[in-house]
Amino acid sequence: MAELKRRVAVLISGRGSNLGALIEAARHPAYPAELALVLSNRADAAGLERARAAGIPTAVVESRPFGRDRAGFEAAMGARLAEARIELIALAGFMRVLTEDFVTAWSGRMLNIHPSLLPAFPGLDTHARAIAAGVRLHGCTVHFVTPGVDEGPVIAQSAVPVLPGDDEAALAARVLAEEHRLYPAALAWAASGAARLEGGRAVVEATMAEGALANPLPGLPALPTEMP
Ligand code: GAR
Repeated sequence: MAELKRRVAVLISGRGSNLGALIEAARHPAYPAELALVLSNRADAAGLERARAAGIPTAVVESRPFGRDRAGFEAAMGARLAEARIELIALAGFMRVLTEDFVTAWSGRMLNIHPSLLPAFPGLDTHARAIAAGVRLHGCTVHFVTPGVDEGPVIAQSAVPVLPGDDEAALAARVLAEEHRLYPAALAWAASGAARLEGGRAVVEATMAEGALANPLPGLPALPTEMP
């Protein structure tokens, strides 16, 4: 029988709380993606344990031994992705910059979540920079990955207030809760074809209306929104 669900690899480098949110969402029988592989560039990434506990195949391709040989590292990753017959990649706290060749090969088939309202605050330390800049709204973005780091077409965003007295940890926690709502919905849209990369722009047929994050596709049961 043909597989109806898109085979997704989640690429991680650390804690894996977004991976946890995707795992919970993908438990729904109607979810359009199957997490077929969790791949980490670090053997000590805590997210690998979450994957193993959920019975998802894992792979470790250590980036460190490759040094500056990014193409070699990506070739090793590509072999694991091919073995697992991966169709879509979800970067979830994957802290390696990918080469233009790799990104181009996965054009329209690779998503990333970033902890800011892009194009504001690309790169690292987004929460501290948002506080320092004095913005009143901050949040997270899911986008298609393109060669420019954190520059790809936006699929979905979620905003949170920056409150008086917020420190970096308080703001990070508020944004992270939104990441855990946003990423399962955006991945569902990409896996179902409701979100596509066309002519360099993200076309999204799904709605961001109230409730869309909990029920991203018609017929899909409400996704869990709580995640430690
Ligand atoms: C998340 O906040 C994610 O948005 C961020 O790393 C964290 C990973 O947390 N990603 C980036 O900064 C990518 N540039 P997690 O491992 O608990 O999902």
